[in-house]
Amino acid sequence: MASIEMRNIVKQYGDGYPAVNDVSLDIADGEFMILVGPSGCGKSTLLRMIVGLEDITSGDMVIGGKRVNDLAPRERNLSMVFQNYALYPHMTVFENIAFPLRLSKTPDDEVRRRVNEASDVLELKEHLERKPANLSGGQRQRVAMGRAIVRQAEAFLFDEPLSNLDAKLRGQMRTEISRLQRRLGITTVYVTHDQTEAMTLGDRVCVLRKGKIQQVASPRELYEQPVNLFVAGFIGSPPMNFLPATLEGTTLQTPFGAIALDEQRAAAVRGRELLLVGIRPEYFEDASLVDEVKRPVGSVFRARVDVTEWLGDSQYAYIPYEAPEAITAQLRDLSRELDSEELRTQAIVSIDSTSRIREGRDAEFWLDSRKIHVFDPQTGENLTRDAEAGARLTQMATEDRVEQVEHAQATGQTVGSSMLSGPSGSSGTSGTSGPSGAHRSGAA
Ligand SMILES: Nc1ncnc2c1ncn2[C@@H]1O[C@H](COP(=O)(O)OP(=O)(O)OP(=O)(O)O)[C@@H](O)[C@H]1O
Ligand SMILES: [Mg+2]
Repeated sequence: MASIEMRNIVKQYGDGYPAVNDVSLDIADGEFMILVGPSGCGKSTLLRMIVGLEDITSGDMVIGGKRVNDLAPRERNLSMVFQNYALYPHMTVFENIAFPLRLSKTPDDEVRRRVNEASDVLELKEHLERKPANLSGGQRQRVAMGRAIVRQAEAFLFDEPLSNLDAKLRGQMRTEISRLQRRLGITTVYVTHDQTEAMTLGDRVCVLRKGKIQQVASPRELYEQPVNLFVAGFIGSPPMNFLPATLEGTTLQTPFGAIALDEQRAAAVRGRELLLVGIRPEYFEDASLVDEVKRPVGSVFRARVDVTEWLGDSQYAYIPYEAPEAITAQLRDLSRELDSEELRTQAIVSIDSTSRIREGRDAEFWLDSRKIHVFDPQTGENLTRDAEAGARLTQMATEDRVEQVEHAQATGQTVGSSMLSGPSGSSGTSGTSGPSGAHRSGAA
């Protein structure tokens, strides 16, 4: 296991296009880092540079304290699991997992010991003699991970490993990978453009846009304190609503009425002709269902609902609004870039499932004005971001991770404490413990 440090990493392909543009990112030993962003933003390119499958144009890639720019993939001892993890159909699960060890001519009893330990962690013990064709998709995924585990790699790298599974299995595998990563305590970098995966799996999430880092933070910080319009629109589903607004005194005038700001926030947004107010769907409520204590911290407005969708545990109402052409055009551009259809001049608000608000009728809504953000429409900058509050959220996530890894180690669940250190006393963190010649990728 090792930390991964990137210093000003640039990747220019042959045609000069900077697919990755000055990325600096530190991934701690044992951390689960997510790389997320729209198609073409450079996620796979960055991952492939970590592994060594792609040359680095400039910058330093440091793994476990050692600069690896000029090391071949097999000398880096990382384990990559691709979207299409190819298992050998004629081999048993046991032999599929043992494959890299066979390549490196590891003695039989050592192979047996390591495969058994890995299959224990992966709950594959009962399936070791079966063939991959007879396994479920999730079990196959675990076999591919088993192959990565027995190699005693310094880190796991995943490139959209779940993207070709159906939604239900994807959900199961997500939990599986998360649990495993904690138990193994292995540094993990995981590429996805699925924002649910990004929010649920990572200790921290790195949001990329056109080869540049936008924000690196815990999922909660990204959600509650996004740095800009891009991150705010990308993280969260349904996405944040963006309303045009102007400031009068300390009050924002929006299509959904006046929203009061405190003096500090008003000062931060003052001096701009037009603003964009970001309000997440769940900051709204059916005004008739908001209790008297809560009511004064928000504002109430009337609007006509276009469509309602009842989902059982909640309900969405769609409210169209008018916006100046400049704003409409900008929201359209943003939607296109985010691969989303939903950022239109229509707010999606989440209301209680018992609400009797129905389409075609005027209704009263309440919105929690404490939680809104105000953006500069020109630069996209979040003008009301509270950096300290954000840092606290990420600090909390870091503490949680340390505690979880310690807990996993204390209960003897990690492979790190038993298997990776091995009976021969070789240290799993030394950077030289991998079986030589066994560094084929997980998709081998
Ligand atoms: N071999 C290559 N030669 C030239 N340009 C490339 C090459 N591979 C990728 N690119 C370009 O680099 C950019 C980043 O590509 P990359 O594959 O890293 O994106 P990605 O974020 O993984 O996207 P996706 O979500 O679609 O997989 C894209 O604009 C792509 O066109
Ligand atoms: Mg990719």
